[in-house]
Amino acid sequence: MKKSIVNIIDTLGLVAHPEGGFYKETYRSHGEINENSLPDNYKGKRNYSTCIYFLLTSNNFSAFHRINQDEIWHFYDGSPIRLHTLSATGVHEEHIIGKDIFNGQVPQFIVPGGFWFAAEVIHKDSYSLVGCTVSPGFNFNDFELIKRETLVTFFPKHKKLIARLTHM
Ligand code: GUN
Repeated sequence: MKKSIVNIIDTLGLVAHPEGGFYKETYRSHGEINENSLPDNYKGKRNYSTCIYFLLTSNNFSAFHRINQDEIWHFYDGSPIRLHTLSATGVHEEHIIGKDIFNGQVPQFIVPGGFWFAAEVIHKDSYSLVGCTVSPGFNFNDFELIKRETLVTFFPKHKKLIARLTHM
C-alpha cells in the first residue's frame, strides 16, 4: 500500500473492516432505544446513532452487504467512490459519491436500509475517505455480508457485478 495511505490509516487509527477497507467509529450516542421501540428486525437495544470514518483503497472494495438502517455516506477526500445498490427486487443502481457536483457526483448519499450494497474507488492508485452515519446505531448483529453464490442465486442477471464485488 502507498505510504501516504498507510499514513492516513495510522493517523486516524483505522482498522480493517470485514466488508473490506478500514474504519474507526467516531461517534456513538449515549442515548439508547429500547428493543420494544424498534422494528422486529432488531434484537436488543441500540444507541440512537453512530458514525464512522471509512477508507477504501483502489486495490480493495467494500463487498456486497446489507444492514437494517438507512446509511448516510459523506464524502471527505481522495477519489470519488462508485457505490452499487441492489434492491430487494434486484434493481441495480450506481451512484458516484464525490465532490464534483457539476458532473453528477454527490457529496452525500443515503443507502436505503435492507438494500444490498458495495463500493469501489474510481481512480487508480488512490483511496477514498468517507463518513458513514446510521440511526439506530450500528451493531454487527444488523450487518450481513453475503456470499457470492447466495447473492447470484437471488439476482442471476447481476452475476458479473456480484462476482467482482464479493470477497467469498
Ligand atoms: N460500524 C462498524 N461498521 C460499520 C459500518 O459498516 N457502517 C456504520 N455506519 N457503522 C459501522
